[in-house]
Amino acid sequence: MIRINENYTKLKASYLFADIARRVGAYTAAHPQSPVIRLGIGDVTEPLPPACVEAMHAATDEMSRRETFKGYGPEQGYAFLRELVAQHDYAGRGCRIEPDEIFISDGSKCDCGNIQEIFSTDARLAIPDPVYPVYVDTNVMAGRTGANVGGRYEGILYLESNASNGYVPAVPDAPADLIYLCFPNNPTGAVATRAQLEAWVAYAKRNRAVILFDSAYEAYIRDPAIPHSIYEIEGAREVAIEFRSFSKTAGFTGTRCAYTVVPKSLVAWDASGQTHPLHALWNRRHTTKFNGVSYPVQRAAAAIFSEAGRQQTRALTDFYLGNAQLIRSAVASLGLSAVGGDNAPYIWVNSGRDSWDFFDLLLDKAQVVCTPGAGFGKCGEGHIRISAFNSRENVEKALVRIAAALR
Ligand code: MLT
Repeated sequence: MIRINENYTKLKASYLFADIARRVGAYTAAHPQSPVIRLGIGDVTEPLPPACVEAMHAATDEMSRRETFKGYGPEQGYAFLRELVAQHDYAGRGCRIEPDEIFISDGSKCDCGNIQEIFSTDARLAIPDPVYPVYVDTNVMAGRTGANVGGRYEGILYLESNASNGYVPAVPDAPADLIYLCFPNNPTGAVATRAQLEAWVAYAKRNRAVILFDSAYEAYIRDPAIPHSIYEIEGAREVAIEFRSFSKTAGFTGTRCAYTVVPKSLVAWDASGQTHPLHALWNRRHTTKFNGVSYPVQRAAAAIFSEAGRQQTRALTDFYLGNAQLIRSAVASLGLSAVGGDNAPYIWVNSGRDSWDFFDLLLDKAQVVCTPGAGFGKCGEGHIRISAFNSRENVEKALVRIAAALR
């Protein structure tokens, strides 16, 4: 008799954003004359930068000719893209990352979700609350947690992020083996200072732990004192894996391209105390389960690093940050406190009431979709997340509607 992976029965019935999509779908079916504005899931709306489109067209033409056609590419990504990433995203910031330490993939969501496979099933987890739900759910699926009791899984050390710590959790007293950090943060929009990241790297060293550092939103950092990469911190090559994505940097949510950095100096231990380089393990996993990102998409991603591409992507992130500023000031004028939006495309609003109720109110009265904070964890209760990813026209319209609904 085939049996299921019973860890799945510990999960909430559906993934947060699938749940929201279902509720919004039901609302729009019942109110077809009331078009909704989506400031919920962080999905980009502006077209790809022209430099990327040109590169993708040219690469598609190459695929149409026998002499330049390409079949399977290297699973880890083409050298042209890995070299550009190493040069611009790392060497350019003083970080020592080699091209072959970079694994090109089709998304950070997949990489953040899959990475846990290379660690033992009894690894002790430290995960922020609120948090991007992928980190928690994939560990539940893998059996690293107990049951969900009162909104929290047994076996996870929750790192509470709230107004009192500026939404950046301090290192805990208790030990952990696998630590998830995301800065600029999804969902709060908070950023971590160099000193805060140094404390985490020191904690990981002390505990022989690994930090999984999600910096998918680094292109939104405008404060020059804030590190963009964990590898800007001395010693991070020995304790951290970093995830980056072109989704929010260059509008690739539908195009799909990202990368994960696994330094060759990073090790973990087996039961007998012997060390193993994680680079080899991830390479084994990646080459076994993944066949590479398509050539035209990697060419489009490489164009982000051209002179024109850099200017165009900067304009794109500036545009969404402009939306974020409008949202922050509109929310403040309604008497609600909020953080984020300065160095991140998310605004974390203290709704002062049940977050799903507030979600329903905005959907019902303003036809605006946000994300209820409770969906990101227990500490998210009493908050909503508003995403800055939409057209200017829609953001302005949504803010007028929200103001009218709350008045
Ligand atoms: C979000 O809204 O949190 C993100 O869009 C989710 C994602 O990037 O997968």
